[in-house]
Amino acid sequence: MQTITKLQELRKTVRDHRLNRKKIAMVATMGNLHEGHIALIHQAKELADIVIATIFVNPLQFGSGEDLEKYPKTLEADKEQLISAGCHLLFAPTETEVYPHGRDNQTIVEVPATSNLYCGSSRPGHFQGVATVVCKLYAMIQPDVAVFGQKDYQQLHIIRQMTQDLSIDVEVVGSPTKRNSEGLALSSRNGYLTQAEREKATALYRTLQETKQQLEAGCSDFPLLCETAQANLESQGFKRDYFVIANANTLMLAQPGDKHLVLLAAAYMGAARLIDNQVVDLPS
Ligand code: PAF
Repeated sequence: MQTITKLQELRKTVRDHRLNRKKIAMVATMGNLHEGHIALIHQAKELADIVIATIFVNPLQFGSGEDLEKYPKTLEADKEQLISAGCHLLFAPTETEVYPHGRDNQTIVEVPATSNLYCGSSRPGHFQGVATVVCKLYAMIQPDVAVFGQKDYQQLHIIRQMTQDLSIDVEVVGSPTKRNSEGLALSSRNGYLTQAEREKATALYRTLQETKQQLEAGCSDFPLLCETAQANLESQGFKRDYFVIANANTLMLAQPGDKHLVLLAAAYMGAARLIDNQVVDLPS
């Protein structure tokens, strides 16, 4: 696997692949790779000839007081995993390479309506940072296809809209969430959990499943279901952030009669803010 840190070298390599008519897939990450990321690489390999993974802890998507400084950096171990997965190229740029005029002078990409809801409300500016860096990575790599995890449901929705709104010719593919045997969604932030917290954190997935079952059983009092879920999470040791039932297509709060739904949840366990989601399709 080739590792590139400079944009100029990346551009030259990408140009050569394009001249050779290779189809390119992009898997953007912030490193500290786990099985969830590796599944994205495997999926990307099915979809393209050349898989380019990126590792960049994007400062624009962290708010003040968040975990930017302590975000785990495990480049050598990440490289090993990427090599084993058969990734072709790693682009691991420095901050100056990505934001040459500095963070504060960077042109920002903002997807309206959904960027300030849910995770965007708890983390102001987060999705502007995500949309900006993904747009830049598209411009740098010029992929044919980009694979993102469905665990970050709202992020995936925003990236899809950004890609469409800016008429960017990239196929965005969502990849199913990887979970441990207890159902906990794999996430770099699980590393902040103690063993005891990790066990308690499985309540997030269980609560999503229970709420899904109640919806499927015909319960349509969405606010009551969300409040019950939040109270349940609190009783299991979580601190509240949000738990909503949204329309899976628009991401707006679900209205009576909506059939394609997504439960979106975020909650704090110890030092970790965990997110997860569950799609629910009700019979029409
Ligand atoms: O999901 C992530 O790891 C990040 O938000 C992404 C898409 C790599 C952008 O920095």
